[in-house]
Amino acid sequence: MILKCRSCDSLKIKNVVSLGFVPLANALLTEDQLDQPEEKFPLDLVFCEDCKLVQIVETVPAEKLFKSYVYLSSMSQTMLESSRELVEGIIKELGLGPEKGTVLEIGSNDGYLLKNYVKAGVKCIGVEPAQNIATVARDNGVHTITGFFNLDRAKELVKSGYQVDVLHANNVLAHVEDLNSVIAGIAVMLKPDGVAIVETHYVGDLIEKTQFDCIYHEHLCYYSATSISNLFAKHGLTMVKAERIAIHGGSLRAYFKRTDYLDKWDESPIIVEEKAKGMQKLAYYDWIGPEIMRLKMGLQWFVQYAKNTGKKLAAYGATAKSTTLLNFCGVGKESIEFIADSTPFKQGKYAPGTHIPIVEPSEIYNRNTDILLLTAWNFAEEIEKKESRFLEKGGKMFSPFSFHREGEWSL
Ligand code: TYD
Repeated sequence: MILKCRSCDSLKIKNVVSLGFVPLANALLTEDQLDQPEEKFPLDLVFCEDCKLVQIVETVPAEKLFKSYVYLSSMSQTMLESSRELVEGIIKELGLGPEKGTVLEIGSNDGYLLKNYVKAGVKCIGVEPAQNIATVARDNGVHTITGFFNLDRAKELVKSGYQVDVLHANNVLAHVEDLNSVIAGIAVMLKPDGVAIVETHYVGDLIEKTQFDCIYHEHLCYYSATSISNLFAKHGLTMVKAERIAIHGGSLRAYFKRTDYLDKWDESPIIVEEKAKGMQKLAYYDWIGPEIMRLKMGLQWFVQYAKNTGKKLAAYGATAKSTTLLNFCGVGKESIEFIADSTPFKQGKYAPGTHIPIVEPSEIYNRNTDILLLTAWNFAEEIEKKESRFLEKGGKMFSPFSFHREGEWSL
């Protein structure tokens, strides 16, 4: 449990909302674990009044959190396309190729992003802590080191002659406990004109769209352009550009360069917008508490209504998000028959806390499901396309946010 801000060590961290005790989001259970006690941890969100970083208080030890990491980035077409587009743009802009350019990715997962550099012959390397996933990346032809990235690792890499033109960190900074060591490592890794490109879920979307299910123990920090640029600035890195992108329900893509090699830069319009919205103040974040309660009541009411009208309800996406959503809202296997998910690692297991079985998506047809709760709502378009047969048969899909306000859904 932290008493000081994870980024700036300030003691001025203020409570935003408490989601109670929740099991670990990806701690899927096997059948023989179902009758064993399950560990739950407090999930409390706070805001730092000094550097403006939103974060959770509890730090679950990494050995517990990442015992068996089940997330494969390549499972999503949306992720694959977004990273391919990004890499193709960077290769073109910087003129990278077999003779020019070196790239590093932190949290490189199964090689979903770096494989685009490999294809173009650009020298690249991934750092990935999950052994099982790093193996998948190597099988995909992506040179991958198994382990965590931090300042020591960066110094070792630089010593072996590896400094980079481009460094990617996609959806990784939210997970990092030793935040300042990682950012210091990024600064060390960059060549004088190198660029670090960071993607992370955007806290503005989390608050304004009540995406509270994105809050779970793996996500220690929830960034705004202001808080992330404050963090990097401490390590001699300046945010030279930032953009909001649609992925994961709304993300921030920020570009950082070494301050010591920059002449001048303009303040990002996103930071200007954040000031105008009041995102530097606790009141902006406080608003989410009552909104979450409204969503919880709406979902409970819907589930009961579906049951009373004899509809068969299942969920789609055994996401980490679904653990927070279902446990906090008190919706379990008495209402949701199963969770469909295309990830082979997840099938045959059970959801944390609720013990809902996870099965192949084809089960929505075999078991005549009427309604799907889209717990992978961030991939709604992709799932609607993939399961168009379900919709054509009259099946209905709802994201959890459909229940936020009265009258936003019908059966
Ligand atoms: P995601 O929402 O990215 O992650 P998180 O766990 O961080 O909340 O996970 C998406 C999940 O949805 C993943 O388990 C794969 C699954 N999925 C499908 O089963 N079918 C699909 O078509 C897509 C896009 C995802």
